[in-house]
Amino acid sequence: MDKFVLYKSALKGAVTVSGSKNAALPLLAATLLTDEECIIHHVPDLADIRTMLKIIEVLGKEVKFEDGTVTIKAGKKQGYVAPYRLVRTMRASFCCLGPLLAKKKKAKVSLPGGCIIGVRPVDLHIKGLEELGAKIAIEKGYCIGDGKNLKGKHIYLGGAFGSSVLATANVMMAATLAEGETTIEYAACEPEIESLAVFLKRMGADIAGEGTPMLRVRGVKKLGGCSFENIADRIEAGTYIACALATNSTLQINGANPYHLTSVLETAKKMGAQINIIGADSMLIEPKSVLKPVNIVTLPYPGFPTDLQAQFMVALCYARGISLITEKIYPDRFMHVAELNRMGAHIQRSGPYAIVEGGGALYGAEVMASDLRASAALVIAGLSAEEKTQVFRVYHIDRGYEKIEEKLRSLGAKIKREKQ
Ligand code: UD1
Repeated sequence: MDKFVLYKSALKGAVTVSGSKNAALPLLAATLLTDEECIIHHVPDLADIRTMLKIIEVLGKEVKFEDGTVTIKAGKKQGYVAPYRLVRTMRASFCCLGPLLAKKKKAKVSLPGGCIIGVRPVDLHIKGLEELGAKIAIEKGYCIGDGKNLKGKHIYLGGAFGSSVLATANVMMAATLAEGETTIEYAACEPEIESLAVFLKRMGADIAGEGTPMLRVRGVKKLGGCSFENIADRIEAGTYIACALATNSTLQINGANPYHLTSVLETAKKMGAQINIIGADSMLIEPKSVLKPVNIVTLPYPGFPTDLQAQFMVALCYARGISLITEKIYPDRFMHVAELNRMGAHIQRSGPYAIVEGGGALYGAEVMASDLRASAALVIAGLSAEEKTQVFRVYHIDRGYEKIEEKLRSLGAKIKREKQ
């Protein structure tokens, strides 16, 4: 296992964001809807992507991944079982269920189980697919489904925490080959879902309303192959924005769509940063020397993303005053609080709230990464804290940040990967 060793760093320069992991994962699952060749460009080389490609292979595809381009075509073997050993490492693999039911008419997909950021049920996925007519049984930790009679329907997909990104992906993908018209009310509006809809349309699907809470899908007989450019990773871009704020550094972030980051840029502005949007895919972040406290509420898109809550919490440790963070998506997603407090932060957690008393300094310590985004937060903390920080279990970060050390080092960061 590796660890990161970090020292306080003044960063400067430009960084280019990779392709989005969360957008690419459902695109890879969508290739199961056709026997023809699909080519996807701008795919980040990350552990989660490699896992999804293994699952696609197990499900009967031939896969090539070279220089950020994935080529997927029909393989010699046919499969419909997504095994626990692969699914357990990554929940997104559950979105193979919808495509398998629609194309192969049967599926056996391991239930993903809980994870460190909370319970993370899949009831909305199952409800949506059952309403489309799938017969689903849970047996020995697997979701076993029959998709012989999928029929379009009006489906309400809202849950206790609002819309669900991957449940929307699953149901939308299954509906593309179901008979008749499906409407999904309370669909997720995330750019990753919008991009999936555009990809499916390229394959020949009939979809309208992507990017809104009401999706309409008219089933077609067959989908074909296509070539597609994956969108940029808005969460990686937001992580570099939080890093600029916490380290008081001027950073130019290239290759990311600023319109996917409106709530994040608004928050950075309220904290006192100057933001200059340069063209369609670039922005300059110039923090002021003293950051202002803000209140953040995480919400489904276009609200502030839960996947940037931990990183912005670090920046708020340096804001002069008290900030309140309300976590509305995953009320238990606060594992990083204890680690940040070990570095000298003053954060109190109460249920879904974290009160950050900012304005002091952070000091280097040995800290433990608990999940992907919390790891990114600890890296930011290490680059802003006095003296040496060691972040253990960085395999979490390798799941979601392409070339993070290389990119940070090119900005002047003192970061080293060592054996733990
Ligand atoms: C996706 C993202 C993840 C992000 C999350 C919320 C990917 C690969 N992952 O995860 O990084 O943190 O969106 O923006 O894109 N819920 C239910 N029942 C369900 C499904 C979800 O109650 O069947 C709840 C969840 O527990 C959570 C909320 O709905 O409270 C939103 O979760 P969801 O949007 O489904 O997250 P994912 O799609 O799994």
